Amino acid sequence: MPAVSRITSADEALALLQTALKHEWAVSLEYLIHAYSMPKGKYFYDDPVVSARLDIRAQTIQIGIDEMYHALQMGLVIRQMGGEPTFETDEIVRHPRIVDNLERDKNTEDLVTNLYRRPQYKEGFLPKLENMFWNISEDEVRHSRQFGAMIETLKTSSEEGARCFAPDPQAEQREDVLLLHDITRAENELMHRYLYHVLFSEHQDLGARLFKNSVDHMRHWDKNAGLLLKLGSLIRLEQAERLPDGSERTLRGMPVFYPGRNRLSALENLLPAEERLIKDYERLIALVPEGEIRDQLKIHIFQNREHLFTQEALLRNAKTIKGLE
Ligand SMILES: [Fe+2]
Ligand SMILES: [Fe+2]
Ligand SMILES: [Fe+2]
Repeated sequence: MPAVSRITSADEALALLQTALKHEWAVSLEYLIHAYSMPKGKYFYDDPVVSARLDIRAQTIQIGIDEMYHALQMGLVIRQMGGEPTFETDEIVRHPRIVDNLERDKNTEDLVTNLYRRPQYKEGFLPKLENMFWNISEDEVRHSRQFGAMIETLKTSSEEGARCFAPDPQAEQREDVLLLHDITRAENELMHRYLYHVLFSEHQDLGARLFKNSVDHMRHWDKNAGLLLKLGSLIRLEQAERLPDGSERTLRGMPVFYPGRNRLSALENLLPAEERLIKDYERLIALVPEGEIRDQLKIHIFQNREHLFTQEALLRNAKTIKGLE
């Protein structure tokens, strides 16, 4: 994270925003991966902000969602200032022990708080931007306190050495599990593809509609990560390398390239992606017995069919109404 100490020009402001965006994309994935590497309802801590005993996993997911909104804000402001948001990310890491992941998360929060609060702005220059960074930094301070309390609880309990969930090697070979991994990756990609078009569309109508679909895909990605655990597997870090200390690291945790540069080509590219995803869900649902997992997968396929319906309609309108860009 390169530090920015002064903001006296639009270029310096954009440099800070791009650094911030790389961080926010990374943690929005990293925290969800850390959360879905531990079982549900097993590790609890006393939260100092909401004064309640909470599930570490559930709260880590909530913090990850805050980071997605931060990323969205950064991307929108980059666009407004004439820059180009990218999907490059800082490194995403998963350590074998839960407490090491939480330590990393807290450390990242402290670094980014400093990044956001440190710059001196030329007097009267970009007060809204300065205000946005301060407001977001307040979230980061809260996150740091919350991660700090999680670490404290684990370290003073018998669970200090608790490890991330270990996948069952047999489950990892099963057709349903392999297919669910593919689907989960596609959901993650589609979430970012829709967001990409939200960030790149100057028109609120397309932006708002695609944002809804993006949030749906994010929820599917999130739920699928939980289903993988139930099936004895574990959410993957894309294109990761494994180090001798057992940690996994990646700089390419999500795709960087997204096809479709204008309204028409964006819509044309999203349709086949939705169709493919629906077909994969159909195959998977046929492999899974009746019950909770199948019911959850059905919710996802129904929402994706709804997306397909909407995307077809948007494409039809974009083709018939004259003068649209
Ligand atoms: Fe953030
Ligand atoms: Fe944060
Ligand atoms: Fe969809």
